[in-house]
Amino acid sequence: MSAANPYHFGSPVDELHFTDRTEQLERLAAVMQNGQNLILIAPRRYGKTSLLRRAVELAEASGGRSGRVSLIKCSSAEDVVQTLMHGVVSGPLGWVRGRATEFSRWLRRIRVAPEIRIDPASGLVEGVSLGPSLAASDWRTVLSEVVRILADLAAEDRNHPVSLVIDEFQKAYEIDPLIADIFKDLVDDLPGVSLVFAGSKRHIMEAMVSSPEHGALYNVGAKLYLGKISEADFVPYLTGRAASAGKHLPAAAASRIYQAAAGIPNDVQLLAFWAFAISAEEITEELVDAAVAYAIDDQREEFTLVFDRLSLVQQRLLKLLAQGPVRAVTGRAVQSVVGVSHRGTLDAALALERLQLAERTGNTWNIANGLLGEWLRGRYE
Ligand SMILES: Nc1ncnc2c1ncn2[C@@H]1O[C@H](COP(=O)(O)OP(=O)(O)O)[C@@H](O)[C@H]1O
Ligand SMILES: [Mg+2]
Repeated sequence: MSAANPYHFGSPVDELHFTDRTEQLERLAAVMQNGQNLILIAPRRYGKTSLLRRAVELAEASGGRSGRVSLIKCSSAEDVVQTLMHGVVSGPLGWVRGRATEFSRWLRRIRVAPEIRIDPASGLVEGVSLGPSLAASDWRTVLSEVVRILADLAAEDRNHPVSLVIDEFQKAYEIDPLIADIFKDLVDDLPGVSLVFAGSKRHIMEAMVSSPEHGALYNVGAKLYLGKISEADFVPYLTGRAASAGKHLPAAAASRIYQAAAGIPNDVQLLAFWAFAISAEEITEELVDAAVAYAIDDQREEFTLVFDRLSLVQQRLLKLLAQGPVRAVTGRAVQSVVGVSHRGTLDAALALERLQLAERTGNTWNIANGLLGEWLRGRYE
């Protein structure tokens, strides 16, 4: 067998596997260099984390002090604070780590004296914990102290722009809307610091951004929606990667991959990966179809679980969406297939949207996952 598979899916990608997103990167760079905030919204598997990682790399390469944290595993306010502290210590404050005195001078600003574990081999921060002494109510104080460090860093040296990316920020709100609110208060007086809030649950992010009364991110910064990567950008990337690994992928077959994946970056790479894996020199359209079947087989368990958790009404609507785009989801034709009233159909559609199984552009609804659509349409079990 020959060269390594040139495609990657399932986890954030590095530069080699990264395509397009030029405009978005420029926008992020401008924000992060100039102490402004940004709110990035995109469904899962669209490439948020990959983009944010690149942005942090670029910020650092141009002299910035930057870092990224993800709140995805947080399940309490203390977790959030601890995660942020880790992010600040290993990100924007990372450069100071080799200088013990200076490092402890910075850390003294946090009154609860966090415990920092540093890997002796790499010098990287392995973990930060607040220890059992942190009373439940203390997290607010610690949060503001941690955020203060960012502001102090920025004030001390204007030549190194300070930025922090908070991925899966909707988690803070899900744990306790108060955490998100406190953020807003802190952010309001953080000159010279750029915060990027990214989130994958659109309804929660929208609620935070758009509501003047309850929106923790209302007026905090500009919004950026990350869409799919266009077919015109993805196809040359796919054919080029195949060529770099010694196989021929005709544009028509690459286009078929893109269509079957409904343009979702993760799924495009996943199908390309399997098509490459099962092909000899030429990745034909037949082999792409075989890869689709293979990928669906691989995800059958997950599809079954997802589908099984839906109500029967939601199942009927999802199957209808799998057949093709639906305009006027509450119209009579749809109501008769789904078997409930206008209200019931709308509720089902909104529930599917929250679960990221359906998406809409204007009034047109689509199934959000191309492979799930294939599974529902095809003769798979
Ligand atoms: N810029 C990109 N170019 C090509 N593929 C990408 C790009 N961004 C993401 N992907 C694909 O999507 C997958 C998921 O990316 P990730 O950044 O983890 O998404 P998210 O954080 O939005 O869930 C990656 O493994 C890769 O297959
Ligand atoms: Mg991510």
